[in-house]
Amino acid sequence: MSIEQLNEQIRNCRRCPLWQGATQAVPGEGPIDAKVMLVGQNPGAEEDKAGRPFVGRAGKFLTKTLAENGINRAELFITNIVKHITPGNRKPSADEIAACIPYLLAQIAIVKPKVIVLLGATAKETPRLEGIEYMEIIHPSAAMRFKNMREKFEKQIAELALRLQRLA
Ligand code: URA
Repeated sequence: MSIEQLNEQIRNCRRCPLWQGATQAVPGEGPIDAKVMLVGQNPGAEEDKAGRPFVGRAGKFLTKTLAENGINRAELFITNIVKHITPGNRKPSADEIAACIPYLLAQIAIVKPKVIVLLGATAKETPRLEGIEYMEIIHPSAAMRFKNMREKFEKQIAELALRLQRLA
């Protein structure tokens, strides 16, 4: 399956009720040969409007922190474990995550990343596949809010930059 076909499936998805409260699905974006995939929780209000992942406040903070460490976000494949906004941006339920996981697995099968970076607790539900390295890091929205988390997040992004250099 091509990424375009997969994105079309995601945009038409009715596997759980979340589509009813969404403007559109947010499949994700990035090069299909990206070495690194970032996985967040679900699109927020800005992402729901734009149809793109991590473009709101947390996304801008993420993009800035990546850039400060020499990482251009356009090099990464960026997506979420759940592809539609949730009501009030609540944490997705176990059923919603289970319904959406096949899309993430299909994205992983196409992109074949070397490293998958899991942003925050919900993204940790991502199945672990052999031959892929996983990094669990703080979600940028938590990093924005708490100084101690921000310091840890900045260290984690610096570590990601080192791994990226080693992969190059
Ligand atoms: N938070 C996420 O987890 N994902 C987004 O796309 C935006 C904010």
